[in-house]
This record gives sequence, C-alpha cells and structure tokens, in this order.
Amino acid sequence: MRWLVTGGRGMFGTDLTLLLQERGEDVVAVGSAECDIRSLDAVRATMTGFDVVVNAAAWTAVDDAETHEAEAFAINATGARNVALVAAETGTRMVHISTDYVFDGTATEPYQPDHPQNPQSAYGRTKAAGEWAIRAVNRDALIVRTAWLYGEHGPNFVKTMLRLAEERETLTVVDDQVGQPTWTRDLAAYVVELVESDSPGGYYHGSSSGQTTWFGFAQEIFRVAGLDPARVLPCGTRDFPTPARRPAYSVLGEQRLPDWAAPLATLVGTQT
Ligand SMILES: NC(=O)c1ccc[n+]([C@@H]2O[C@H](COP(=O)([O-])OP(=O)(O)OC[C@H]3O[C@@H](n4cnc5c(N)ncnc54)[C@H](OP(=O)(O)O)[C@@H]3O)[C@@H](O)[C@H]2O)c1
Repeated sequence: MRWLVTGGRGMFGTDLTLLLQERGEDVVAVGSAECDIRSLDAVRATMTGFDVVVNAAAWTAVDDAETHEAEAFAINATGARNVALVAAETGTRMVHISTDYVFDGTATEPYQPDHPQNPQSAYGRTKAAGEWAIRAVNRDALIVRTAWLYGEHGPNFVKTMLRLAEERETLTVVDDQVGQPTWTRDLAAYVVELVESDSPGGYYHGSSSGQTTWFGFAQEIFRVAGLDPARVLPCGTRDFPTPARRPAYSVLGEQRLPDWAAPLATLVGTQT
C-alpha cells in the first residue's frame, strides 16, 4: 500500500512514518511547507496515487487556541475537511487523528465512540468541528480519537518531567485530571491495524489501557528513571490555572492499546 502522512513531521506523524518504513511500506510524509492542508488546491496537488492518507496535521497548541480559534479552525476543521474531500474524490482511505477534548470530561465511566461531543475549549471545538466536517464528505473515513500523547519525536510530558527532575528537588503535578497517557508508537500500530483490517468508517478510540492522573504519570516516570517518586507532590488544577479548560475525566472506552505505563521504560531509556 502507498501511504501519505499529512503533518508527517509532528510527534505522532514521525512515529507513524518510521513504523511504516520499518514495515517496508511505501510512505510519503509531508509537513506544512510541502502540503498546507488549509489549501484545497495544495491537498489536491499532493494527494495523487495514494491508497491511504493519515491526517496527523493539526493546530495542537491548546492554550493558544483560546485566542486564535479561527486559525486553529482553519487547520483542525477546514483542513481536515479538505483532506477528507480529496480522499473521497480519489478513493483514498482516510484516517484522521482526533482527541478526547471533544468530550466535556464530566463522565464517570469511559467515553464510548458514540458519546455526544461537548467540547469545553476552543481547541476541542475546532477538533469536534473537524470530525463533523469529515463525516459530512467522507463516511468511509476512520476518525481515531486519542489522548495524552507522548512520543520520542516531540516535546512531551516525559521529557519535561525528566528535565525538571534535574533542576528541582521536588515538583508539584496536578492530581485531579484523569486520563490515559498514550505512546505514539502504540497509536501508530493501532492505525496500521485499523487500515489493514479494512475497518468500517466511523469513530474509534485509540488510547492506552488503564488510567492515571498527571501526578501518577509523573511518579511513574520518576520510578522508571530510578528517581524517588516521593519528590513528586500532588496539587489541584486550581493551583495551575491555564487559559483552556482541561477535561477532568478523559478516559476513552475501547482500550485496545497496551497499558499506559508499559512503554515508559523504552522511552525513558532514550531520554536519560
Ligand atoms: N499531543 C497530544 O497529547 C494529543 C492528544 C490527543 C490528540 N492529539 C492529536 O493527535 C494528532 C497529532 O498530534 P501531535 O502531538 O503529533 O502534533 P504535533 O507534534 O503538534 O504535530 C502537528 C503537525 O501538524 C502540522 N501542521 C500544522 N499546521 C498545518 C497545516 N496548515 N498544514 C499541514 N500541516 C500542518 C505541523 O507541521 P509542520 O511542523 O511541518 O508545520 C506539525 O508537525 C493531532 O491531530 C492532535 O490533535 C494529540
């Protein structure tokens, strides 16, 4: 199969591209300079001769989206629709990466793929709009929601914790947001599996099994790195106000990926 990855230089796009290359697939990764998905013409010019397109391109600066919602919408909604439209025109299978932020975070049990959207942030609104826009033009598209991504090829929570561990004796991390830290390699493998098994179009949840808080995640990073987890102290979201509201409960149902802590040893090993 011939694969195109838009947003192919981002944290997830890079890992997906590397995985496909390792598997001997024919893959082309494009960044915004080669294919700006806001432009339908650019997408049409790029998307010729592919069997699969994975749209990993997005405005991912969650807090900045609060003051730049139109710019975020142009990428996360209009851009996603452009890819979906050209995929439908060219008979290319589309996979789109979406987010737990399309939900409001008030649930008490894992969100199933058919749960109604109710985003609480500008970023979440633009991603939710992208999902709707894709479904309107391409019912065959696979929309894969993921959460709390961390990977080797991007700035992420694991790297931040390891850096702070060198700079400070103790650090405080929020303990009242629950979610599923998800390794980009695991998500990449899931995307390939969905395509290879010719899964029907619709919504899928691609997040790790299990759940934890940012505090629990930080403690586990310390433990795996051979540091004392007691150096990580819990605090509340109210102690770290941010422009965008974060969902308090972000656990996605359909947990087919490995446990959230399983890949940490591999990643921490590459960072220390
Ligand atoms: N990170 C998370 O915790 C998380 C959680 C849930 C869902 N997601 C979703 O997962 C996907 C991948 O996230 P990520 O963390 O890998 O993101 P990322 O590292 O920020 O990468 C996003 C990529 O999008 C590209 N991009 C931005 N504007 C573009 C445009 N106009 N046209 C084409 N490409 C453009 C950028 O390419 P250039 O660098 O070439 O400009 C960038 O490399 C996104 O859809 C995101 O919403 C992420």
